[in-house]
Amino acid sequence: MPSPHLLTLHHLPAEEIRAILRDAIAFRAAHAAGTLPARLAGRTVGTLFFENSTRTRTSFSIAALRLGAEVIDLPVAGSSHAKGETLTDTARTVEALGVDALVVRAAQSGAVEVIARRVGCAVLNAGDGRHEHPTQGLLDALTLADAMGRTDTLDLSGLHVAIVGDVVSSRVARSNVFGLTSLGASVTLVGPPSLAPASLATLAPHVRVQHDFDAVLPHADAVMMLRVQFERHGDSTRMASPAFASLREFRAACGLSTERARRMKSDAVVMHPGPVNRGLELDGEVADSKRSLILRQVANGVPVRMASLVRCLNALPAHN
Ligand code: CP
Repeated sequence: MPSPHLLTLHHLPAEEIRAILRDAIAFRAAHAAGTLPARLAGRTVGTLFFENSTRTRTSFSIAALRLGAEVIDLPVAGSSHAKGETLTDTARTVEALGVDALVVRAAQSGAVEVIARRVGCAVLNAGDGRHEHPTQGLLDALTLADAMGRTDTLDLSGLHVAIVGDVVSSRVARSNVFGLTSLGASVTLVGPPSLAPASLATLAPHVRVQHDFDAVLPHADAVMMLRVQFERHGDSTRMASPAFASLREFRAACGLSTERARRMKSDAVVMHPGPVNRGLELDGEVADSKRSLILRQVANGVPVRMASLVRCLNALPAHN
């Protein structure tokens, strides 16, 4: 039975992932042709972001608006959450105002699932702590399929993706591990043991962990760099972390510098979910190079979130 929630890509069958991506491709084409249907007319979508966002929040809003929904962006900083209201009470309050779907980002892993259990509307996880960011995983899979000429099949078999850097903190890495391997790709998680512990190899079949970036780099079809998540290392200065001795050491171990990028396969691509710490995990020259899919990732966020919203809203009991 389809779920009205999108909380994780873990255990989401490959055929369901492909169905969402096929819908996204159809929405993308319809928008380009000016024939986008008002599939969400009469629906109200609320966004509830307890952590900062540029790409995810904006693209969910654009997706919902283009499909004819009303959108309520709740400014959490000015909400009663700041007076001590729990995440769940805030979510239930917004639901009571009449939303059909809630798009939620939270700092705590698992918090969005807790909210989904307590509300009757659809809930889409826009990133929860270190756990998952499922629509990012979906849009990354679509972007990779596009770049590798696999849009028709959405079959990523034979492709090798390196996910590099602050893996342990990354919900993007987890959702990509589940999404990419489900579609047939193999994934190598790369970083020093403090950021890419060997235990992460158990996340899914066809995943391995490698601490030597230079050994992996020449064999990868796609190199997905991750943002160093200083906020999850307990550092607000963005200058230090207990996970590495210095920024210089981090960059030497797993930064994709211009010099390192020269050692990639000639047709390999560079990805990054954004926002980028330029000059740390990724040099600006590489981020802006022809190899870079970063802005294509951002653009694919809109049709993927259209498809995700429609899937969840269509699965609400009241809709059937
Ligand atoms: N990739 C991503 O989640 O970006 P935002 O934090 O800007 O939404």
